[in-house]
Amino acid sequence: MDKIQDTIDTLKVYNQTHIIKILEKLEGKQKTELIEQINKIDFHQMMELYDNTKKEIQIKENKIEPLPYLDKEKLSIEQKEELDMLGEVALRKGEYAVVTMAGGQGTRLGHIGPKGTFKLDVYGKGKYLFEILVENLKESNTKYDIIIPWYIMTSKENNAATKKFLEKNNYFGYPKEYVTIFTQGELPLLDTDGKFLIGKDMKIKEASDGNGGTYSSLRASGCLADMKEKGIKWIFIGSVDNALLKMVDITLLGMAINEGVQIASKSVVKANPHERVGVFCRMNGHPKVIEYTELPEKMAEEVDENGELKYGESHIMCNLFSIEAIEKISKEPLMYHSAFKANSYIDEEGKEIIPKEPNSYKFESFIFDAFEFFDDIAILRGKREDDFAPVKNREGVDSPKTAKELYEKYWERQNVIVNV
Ligand code: UTP
Repeated sequence: MDKIQDTIDTLKVYNQTHIIKILEKLEGKQKTELIEQINKIDFHQMMELYDNTKKEIQIKENKIEPLPYLDKEKLSIEQKEELDMLGEVALRKGEYAVVTMAGGQGTRLGHIGPKGTFKLDVYGKGKYLFEILVENLKESNTKYDIIIPWYIMTSKENNAATKKFLEKNNYFGYPKEYVTIFTQGELPLLDTDGKFLIGKDMKIKEASDGNGGTYSSLRASGCLADMKEKGIKWIFIGSVDNALLKMVDITLLGMAINEGVQIASKSVVKANPHERVGVFCRMNGHPKVIEYTELPEKMAEEVDENGELKYGESHIMCNLFSIEAIEKISKEPLMYHSAFKANSYIDEEGKEIIPKEPNSYKFESFIFDAFEFFDDIAILRGKREDDFAPVKNREGVDSPKTAKELYEKYWERQNVIVNV
């Protein structure tokens, strides 16, 4: 009884009295589960995150400089061979693992179910995004005579559906014993008054804590330990929604080894100076992905002596880390960003409200916010038409339609090359 009183007191202190009313109506298991959930919440952290949504973003005086990159297209044959050899040797030794971040909500796409289960309408029959990823991995496995351990990060919300889908499709022929599905962490959603939303299941609504949660979830799930046991030295982390993502690029791996860095990233050059993408830079001495909103306009247009944009390397969620880097980052807290989104909830009368407009904050950390923990990063510029076909929006830019076109054109070019 005292315990329930403690929970009620906490809810009062943090202005969550609507939950007390809900608790009064609940009985048995539902009540116990809600109390257990409340007792696990870090209220202090949540209120701090809420307060931050009210603060104006301060653009500090930052020292922003360009970061060097290698353009894959412009490497000499010798340079490329040297890097590829370094990468291939590490790969063949079985030191490479891949992580797919598949815990996102995919709200912009609006597909029901995990994003990886979205079927891209390619070649008439269509291919699921997970299927495209498997094909990419299988191609490398055959080429280098290895089996790459594949770790798939899901959210609590989509974990069961992801497992079911992959089981049903027999992992699209990927050896099941090399696939590990793990779940990322979550944080509660808050409305504009700082109150927790209640879901249909009568629990506080929570959502994934962003793709930056990958690092800590790799540790918490035991995947990091598993990788160490397997002798993995390099971990590629990529998104689930890029139909042209190359999860195994020996030039990228070779470059990381050659430059002795802990992180290497594949970029594509901005389509135009004002494209709304984050680009690589060095900020206050550390590598960083700077949002387009934070990059001064003059800098966005600056070109170097070759006429190339100085801040033109876009981050495309195609990152490679040493296991030591993951070890280090997984112990450090990342900053949280808030996203204002539309989320349904149960009101005090028990009625479900489905808002059309954003009504609540979701808190996320980003994978690239960890770059600044390091002094250096190696960047390899890839080619947009070879490396980047994102499926983000239902229509327009970065939609299934644009991804289908890019995907089919890419494979047409490969066939042409093969047939020459
Ligand atoms: P996005 O940031 O584009 O988010 O994810 P999203 O969830 O796919 O789409 P929207 O913004 O709701 O429309 C980029 C990558 O990071 C993963 C996604 O699954 C995708 O591969 N991600 C994102 C996670 O794994 N967890 C998260 O909490 C967020």
